[in-house]
Amino acid sequence: MLKIGSYKVPSNVLLAPMAGCADLAFRLIAREHGARFCFFEMIDCNSVTYGSRKRLLKELKTTERDKPIALQLLGTDPDDMLSAARKMLEIAETPFLDINAACPVKKVIKKHAGAYLLNDPKRLCAIIKTLAVKLPVPVTVKLRAGYEKNDPKEAAELAKRLESSGAAAIFVHGRTRSQMYSGGIDYDSIRAIKDAVRVPVFGSGNVFDAILAEKMLKETSCDGVLVARGALGNPWIFDDIDRYFKTGVRPEAVTLENKKKVLKKHLAYIDKYKDTRSPGRVGFMRKMALWYLRGFPNAAETRHQISLVNSYEKMIKLIDSL
Ligand SMILES: Cc1cc2nc3c(=O)[nH]c(=O)nc-3n(C[C@H](O)[C@H](O)[C@H](O)COP(=O)(O)O)c2cc1C
Repeated sequence: MLKIGSYKVPSNVLLAPMAGCADLAFRLIAREHGARFCFFEMIDCNSVTYGSRKRLLKELKTTERDKPIALQLLGTDPDDMLSAARKMLEIAETPFLDINAACPVKKVIKKHAGAYLLNDPKRLCAIIKTLAVKLPVPVTVKLRAGYEKNDPKEAAELAKRLESSGAAAIFVHGRTRSQMYSGGIDYDSIRAIKDAVRVPVFGSGNVFDAILAEKMLKETSCDGVLVARGALGNPWIFDDIDRYFKTGVRPEAVTLENKKKVLKKHLAYIDKYKDTRSPGRVGFMRKMALWYLRGFPNAAETRHQISLVNSYEKMIKLIDSL
């Protein structure tokens, strides 16, 4: 049984944290198609420290059906992160709290957070230690394989230090910060981390289907995988992986009608749960629709039509007409 601290993880295939994508609507659809464990979108420590409670409640919007779910925190100062984590735990029930040392975007790196922490292992270990000792839930960490370059030995050394600091599990995106989201996956570094620590290790990167999920597990011996971009417009991936692991049966292509049906449900959840005053709301619906409709007949024309839609109702009409 896969355990993080004393928590029994219900599956070894988890929906990865994805800021700007994996909101409540996204997670509910993923769960309806087999995802048994999800993450909230990452929360910036500064937004907890300086933002309102109302904003935090919005960021941590969830429902009974959206459980179990883990928190992820981004930041750089151990004490600030501890008080932010405490505020988050007052609101959300979580089996563990993850620290983001993987985000590669410039504005995060500039604040010495996310993947920047790979360059400052002392600070990263201090964050893990402070939170692991003082929080009532296990603390985990999400890393990249390296910052500029990947070196399995270095990755394993860092993982050992993090385990000694109290990390209860390690999630590894098998790319460097420099690679951002492109290029191959460094399975060797994930394997080196797995060999170096006793806590569970989860591999992340290019898990786009059941075969690639199996490849991640086989090549690295990791305990579980994170599904990220593979779930965009493709919630079926969770049931597909589950069926393949149990029976060896490869998934069939999803029919057009089924895609339309699930997309409409996804949009209905966005309509229900996304803040109605959010100006980006319809834009967000467009983004989701485009993912589902990849590979549709007349893809270019469909994309163009979607880009012109300016309300939920018109979006549904358009999908019905496809
Ligand atoms: C749109 C998007 C948002 C992401 N947001 C987060 C995040 O908030 N926290 C995090 O740890 N990783 C985040 N990631 C990284 C993913 O969790 C995952 O590690 C990465 O995409 C590699 O997996 P993939 O190649 O299967 O997509 C994000 C990735 C994408 C594409």
